[in-house]
Amino acid sequence: MEKITKVRGTEDLLFDDTRKWHIIEKIILEVATKYNFQELRTPIFEHTQLFVKGVGETTDVVTKEMYTFDDKKGRSLTLRPEGTTGAIRAYIEHKMNGYDNQPIKLYYFGPMFRYERPQKGRQRQFNQFGIETLGIKSPQVDVEVILTGLDVCNKLGLKNLKVLINTLGDEKSRKDYRDALVNYFKQYEDQLCSDCQTRLYKNPLRILDCKVDHDKEFMKNAPHLEDYLTKEAATYFNDVVRILESLNIEYEIDDRLVRGLDYYTDTIFEVVSTNKESGAQATLFGGGRYDGLVASLGGPDVSGIGFGMGIERMLISAEVENPSLFTNIPLDLYVMPLSVETQSYAFKILENLRKLDIDCDMDYLNKSMKAMFKYCERNNIKYAIIVGENELKDNTFILKDLENNTQEELSFELLKTVKERISK
Ligand code: HAM
Repeated sequence: MEKITKVRGTEDLLFDDTRKWHIIEKIILEVATKYNFQELRTPIFEHTQLFVKGVGETTDVVTKEMYTFDDKKGRSLTLRPEGTTGAIRAYIEHKMNGYDNQPIKLYYFGPMFRYERPQKGRQRQFNQFGIETLGIKSPQVDVEVILTGLDVCNKLGLKNLKVLINTLGDEKSRKDYRDALVNYFKQYEDQLCSDCQTRLYKNPLRILDCKVDHDKEFMKNAPHLEDYLTKEAATYFNDVVRILESLNIEYEIDDRLVRGLDYYTDTIFEVVSTNKESGAQATLFGGGRYDGLVASLGGPDVSGIGFGMGIERMLISAEVENPSLFTNIPLDLYVMPLSVETQSYAFKILENLRKLDIDCDMDYLNKSMKAMFKYCERNNIKYAIIVGENELKDNTFILKDLENNTQEELSFELLKTVKERISK
């Protein structure tokens, strides 16, 4: 029979991988808790319309990358391509704007799905850690969101980072800029790729983010949003930048940064890895503010800001920049029965060790002494308990320090002292 393999763009996480994931998950939980974000878990699939309306019908995510299917009743559903819209749907549905603790500061962690061309750090099923602060618009909150992501990077030991930041302005700034872009790109309409010809009238901002047209000559002279910002939008952005400076956070203003999703207004940012060694996609996390999104999905008129962080990319970078973070923590001890007859006694010892919260295992395969020592060496286990016929008869065991090659014989009653002995 032909072998059935995993779907292209998906990955199995094997034992060494999940161990590393636990480390990053723990760091994320600690950082999220420190900044007072609480976890929200939303379904993996939602009504397709949510993403079309939320992410934007002319974005690549919606037009090309969604896993959309009809359920048995013919309803169109989509595997979530990102976390923000689902979180906002839940915010609206559970009337979180009425909760006592405001603003709402939530985070999520889990798989997202996009039909993209798989490469290192880009999959079709990937995982995001994301945060959203809803119900407040303030430059401090914008900075807090960026700092939360940077803190995770810092805890993972990532040093080669660049913070790119820009503003898309408020509604009026965006409208004026949109008109300017249509005016400008109209003269190059026949040179635009077919997608951008559609974008020109539906959503000209997206042209700036086009991978096909990106290097064309006329892109260089396209109008800059900066020149169309209202006074309020410019002041707001200046405040954000001033706070970053006061905290000595290095940043770069990238006035061509637009991001790939339609809901953004005002501050947007991306944090990229400048370490080329990993060979992975550079953007570790990205996000921004969205003023109109909650209302456009039928909720109250509140502002929000957040980011999404690609866990696979974070891991690839951390493995290159800080490998010691992932050093394996070995078992405390290994129990070695010397014959089939001693196995049940060895098992009794094993169970009692586990009651003492000692991480341990035993040989069930009746391996040779040599093979059992080899196992300990390979797995970096520093202590063994050896039980042979004599020990079984005398109700004792041998505790062996494998590193110093010393051993002592102890009675079964002294098993409770093993924890202290091995932690010395
Ligand atoms: P995004 O820029 O589309 O934003 O994705 C955020 C991050 O997810 C990226 O920076 C990248 O690290 C990771 N990512 C995206 N696509 C893939 C992929 N195919 N494979 C691996 N990693 C990927 C959002 O999703 C917004 N929801 C972020 C946000 C939250 N904005 C406001 N709040």
